[in-house]
Amino acid sequence: MRVTTLSPAALLLTLLPLTVAAGQQQQQPLQSQLRPSSSSSQHQQQQYHHQPLDAAATATSTKDSTPPPYRDALLSLHKSLVSIESITGNENGVGRWLVDYLVARGYTAELQFVAPGGGDDGNEKERFNIVAWPPAEEGSDRHEEERGEKLGKRAVVRADPKVVLTSHIDVVPPYIPYSISDEGDAITSRTMIKGRGSVDAKASVAAMITAIDDLLARPSTSSSSTSSSSVRNDVMLLFVVDEEVAGAGMRAFSDSLARMHPPPRPFSAVIFGEPTENKLACGHKGALFCDITARGVAAHSGYPWLGKSANELVVRALARVLDADLGSSDLFGNTTVNVGLLQGGVAGNVIPERALVKIGVRVAVGPQEGGAKHVEEKIRRILDDVDDEAFGFTCSQGYGSVECDCDVPDFDTITVNYGTDVPNLAGNHTRYLYGPGDILVAHGARENLTVGVLEESVEGYKKLILHALDRAQ
Ligand SMILES: *[C@@H]1O[C@H](CO)[C@@H](O)[C@H](O)[C@H]1NC(C)=O
Ligand SMILES: *[C@@H]1O[C@H](CO)[C@@H](O)[C@H](O)[C@H]1NC(C)=O
Ligand SMILES: *[C@@H]1O[C@H](CO)[C@@H](O)[C@H](O)[C@H]1NC(C)=O
Repeated sequence: MRVTTLSPAALLLTLLPLTVAAGQQQQQPLQSQLRPSSSSSQHQQQQYHHQPLDAAATATSTKDSTPPPYRDALLSLHKSLVSIESITGNENGVGRWLVDYLVARGYTAELQFVAPGGGDDGNEKERFNIVAWPPAEEGSDRHEEERGEKLGKRAVVRADPKVVLTSHIDVVPPYIPYSISDEGDAITSRTMIKGRGSVDAKASVAAMITAIDDLLARPSTSSSSTSSSSVRNDVMLLFVVDEEVAGAGMRAFSDSLARMHPPPRPFSAVIFGEPTENKLACGHKGALFCDITARGVAAHSGYPWLGKSANELVVRALARVLDADLGSSDLFGNTTVNVGLLQGGVAGNVIPERALVKIGVRVAVGPQEGGAKHVEEKIRRILDDVDDEAFGFTCSQGYGSVECDCDVPDFDTITVNYGTDVPNLAGNHTRYLYGPGDILVAHGARENLTVGVLEESVEGYKKLILHALDRAQ
């Protein structure tokens, strides 16, 4: 079947690089780089010798007696990703490495530049999302087109992706180097891997790529009717920047879809990779971040009736906010409030004139659009009730609880309280949230997972991809 140059997929390719994050002051130079230099790819290939994928290998297992055939490739990919520091704002290095890696393995990769920033230190480095398609089959139309592209023509034929696998390549600070326990000894499924990003979310990134490679190499292990050509042609990978700070990467991608004319065919399903202990998340709480300011009147502390304490106003208001019912649901429990920053006053003997509070609210009620506004209004009413003129109150956009599809056979389920990029991608696709590792250690000094957990997630992603492709038929 011939796809015309007007297909949405072609437009997707054409328009993706023309995107920068919303809110950016100055237009970025529009850049697109379809393929990094081949010398750099070769260099990477030598440096990280990948285990050849053996189509005849047996079915996978996480038992130590039979490690899965992809173990070496998976661990090597994961190690490389974790070893490259990529604290939000500084994703350039890991992005370049990953593009080289994918292209060396036959993937087609496209960069989508996103406005610099995100970090605390005014980082101005170039950074980008990566959009990638699995290797084309020899002799296919797409392969022919890609040969044309190498000759200087632009690729115009690409299947519309039905299923998108996505995760993020930025991590939280501080950097913690990669390490793997019992180095030198045999690696088993119990071997522990530590380092920043080893869980959140470079484990998801490595496992997603390995899952696709494995489905393509061993289509027979799938009991599903979905053919490997569907895995090859209908799946797209998306690795974004800035998830840990503002979601600018995913928003830039989402906006680029919204600006396309005609609009692209909607994705059938999007699989988001975040630490869910290899359980399928039924959703996560919403979030709302607010600044409360209070304005009083300074006075001598011995004559409090001559002044008005901004700190006292804040303390009284916060006590009520913390005790208030801000909404709850069976799935997500209570809406919770973290008083993350308190600032006010100048000295013990002066009635404070000003106070500032920053709160983070985890919203347990929906809908995704509007759920957070509801909570914001409740807090505003409490502040007004305490003092109807002293408070300033501004909140981030915010969103209510986010529901995902967790009705897939053979998966345990979970709900989580952290934010993700799920609400940052507009569209009416089925959403899955799944990934290896435990969120409770992910942002701390103890971030780690075991080889067995990482490998189990490859099997989980394979099942999810096949399930989503089956449903998309
Ligand atoms: C939720 O809040 C209610 C009061 O609003 C409280 O009784 C209940 O224990 C809370 N549940 C949890 C799990 O904290
Ligand atoms: C989203 O998809 C569901 C079924 O998949 C459909 O019932 C619903 O109307 C769609 N909503 C929009 C806004 O397109
Ligand atoms: C490794 O992570 C687990 C959670 O998956 C945690 O309970 C454990 O304390 C961590 N261990 C180390 C040594 O950091």
